[in-house]
Amino acid sequence: MQLLKTDDGSYTLLDPEQQETYHSKFGARTESDQVYLHNSGVYHRLQAQQPTSVLEIGFGTGFNFVHTAQHALKWNCELHYTACEMLPVSREIALEVLTHNAPEANDLCEFTADAIGSIAPENRPADQPPKQSVNLALNSRTHLHLHRVDARSHSWPGAAFDAIYLDAFSKKNNPSLWSADFLKKLRAASRPDTRLATYCVNGEFRTALTAAGFSFRKLPGPKGKREVLVATPLPTDQIVDQYQQKTDI
Ligand SMILES: C[S@@+](CC[C@H](N)C(=O)[O-])C[C@H]1O[C@@H](n2cnc3c(N)ncnc32)[C@H](O)[C@@H]1O
Repeated sequence: MQLLKTDDGSYTLLDPEQQETYHSKFGARTESDQVYLHNSGVYHRLQAQQPTSVLEIGFGTGFNFVHTAQHALKWNCELHYTACEMLPVSREIALEVLTHNAPEANDLCEFTADAIGSIAPENRPADQPPKQSVNLALNSRTHLHLHRVDARSHSWPGAAFDAIYLDAFSKKNNPSLWSADFLKKLRAASRPDTRLATYCVNGEFRTALTAAGFSFRKLPGPKGKREVLVATPLPTDQIVDQYQQKTDI
């Protein structure tokens, strides 16, 4: 796994085997901020101090969580963040990415890297299996539920999440995470106004979204990606480009 500096100065990882980066090489922070935090509506929910539950598919380095949690902390808003990760990176490499990207949030970075480490097989003594799940509280309002699991074989409670970050590797390497069958599981975990945010706008994926009961809207993407996508069980007329109202932390 290689540390990679992206065009906006933030860092991500490159998986040399799959030739996939964990965030856009054009800007990891920008992607996390625009494609996930803003397009999902989470930024505005947190700013309005509405308790918010997020499901992320593909926890990776934990940076989407750290970026989201920084806003929850800033506005003192309750955040329940549930994430699935099939192949956790090591605690050390996660911490390296996170402390480069959020040096001002050292406790949060350590908390997140510890969570990844506790489900990563290489961090456990040989006679102890790694944990399948950890439920951790950074404080009384910020909760992380992290599962080491193949998301394809996992189920979530019905109508449980306000937002879904679908941040799996590309359709080429991870086809089933973009399929109608998998999206039906995410639809079941959604409320009528849940927003699913992702970087993928592929035609087959859009057809699969419709088959799974989502409507969708394309929004302008960050540098390097002309368009990205937001999906919701309700018609998408209400979805506006909330990234225009961006405020830096
Ligand atoms: C694009 S990266 C996610 C980046 C991450 N959101 C972050 O903030 O660093 C995709 C992640 O999906 C994970 N993944 C791939 N297939 C999966 C599956 N079937 N179930 C759960 N996680 C999976 C990969 O191991 C990888 O960590």
